[in-house]
Amino acid sequence: MRILVTGGAGFIGSALVRHLIEKTNHEVLNFDKLTYAGTLSTVERVASSNRYRFVQGDICDADAVRCAIAEFKPEIVTHLAAESHVDRSIDGPRAFVETNVIGTFTMLSEARAYWLCLDDEAKASFRFHHISTDEVYGSLGDTGLFTEETPYDPRSPYSASKAGSDHLVSAWGHTFGLPVLITNCSNNYGPYHFPEKLIPLMIVKALTGAGLPVYGGGDQVRDWLFVDDHVHALQAVFEKGEPGRTYNVGGNSEKQNIEVVKTVCTILDRLRPRVDGQSYATQITYVADRPGHDKRYAIDASRIKNELGWEPAETFETGIEKTVAWYLDNQSWWEAIVAEHKADQRRGLSV
Ligand SMILES: NC(=O)c1ccc[n+]([C@@H]2O[C@H](COP(=O)([O-])OP(=O)(O)OC[C@H]3O[C@@H](n4cnc5c(N)ncnc54)[C@H](O)[C@@H]3O)[C@@H](O)[C@H]2O)c1
Repeated sequence: MRILVTGGAGFIGSALVRHLIEKTNHEVLNFDKLTYAGTLSTVERVASSNRYRFVQGDICDADAVRCAIAEFKPEIVTHLAAESHVDRSIDGPRAFVETNVIGTFTMLSEARAYWLCLDDEAKASFRFHHISTDEVYGSLGDTGLFTEETPYDPRSPYSASKAGSDHLVSAWGHTFGLPVLITNCSNNYGPYHFPEKLIPLMIVKALTGAGLPVYGGGDQVRDWLFVDDHVHALQAVFEKGEPGRTYNVGGNSEKQNIEVVKTVCTILDRLRPRVDGQSYATQITYVADRPGHDKRYAIDASRIKNELGWEPAETFETGIEKTVAWYLDNQSWWEAIVAEHKADQRRGLSV
């Protein structure tokens, strides 16, 4: 199949692109603006494949999206391009509304215009798969899980913009009959994760001898999923999912942020001990909490498991070991990014 991947130079999109080129026979068009979060180094190893193409473009630019779709003729659109960092959405929400809401609207409009001109068979098999987050459901107390029926209750500008985009996708399905799919996934981690998100930030700061800034008491709970498991879930959904349906994707791996940071430190202590023999955990520094910080997210992924047969292959323990080892083996990848963003004085980075 011909699969258009928006945001294919980012963390999850690039994992999807690498998987599709290396492990399947699908053709891929990677459509990405290359914002601060996107770099072609994430897809370098598949870039020479004759089943891979790249177009630099903005999902808010209807002409650019229309041209890419007309030229590539996708059978599946997997829409991952987004502004994705909650801290940045607090400091500057506009880009989140523009990319996540207007950009998704533009993708839907152009996909629909193209879809309307397809023959009946191609129309029926076409899919618009929107990749979203569990953060649209809000925050849980100490118990309970998000199901696909949990009412939306987004709290941050990021999750509100993703919730808005999810509603637009549903509307295009209900009102116009576009065969849409939505997945709401928990926190991902793994290789090529931009070092502003919790896990890569901690690895990089630990290795560079900096403080490890933990928000509040570090007691917020997230359900962690290894990125390749998310990619397998996406493939199951766009190949076998029922149009109009939403699927929650989670790792069944609830951890407090502080547990995650201490686990990273323990693995680093073993794989790359500090020269002074002290633990990396001595670098942990507690910083003022993020405003409106959601307490707990946890996913009930039984629908995707029961209907599509997907389950994560990695536990948190195996996935985090692989992730830390990857950052140790690929120091030049993240050093280049850190050097480029050295001057950033963003929320969550200072100690
Ligand atoms: N990272 C997670 O834990 C997680 C969890 C659930 C869902 N998601 C969702 O998955 C998707 C991918 O997340 P990620 O972590 O890979 O994000 P990311 O920030 O690593 O990558 C986003 C990519 O989108 C591109 N992009 C941004 N604005 C664009 C625009 N206007 N036009 C074209 N390209 C643009 C960027 O250049 C980048 O390559 C997002 O929609 C996000 O909301 C992420």
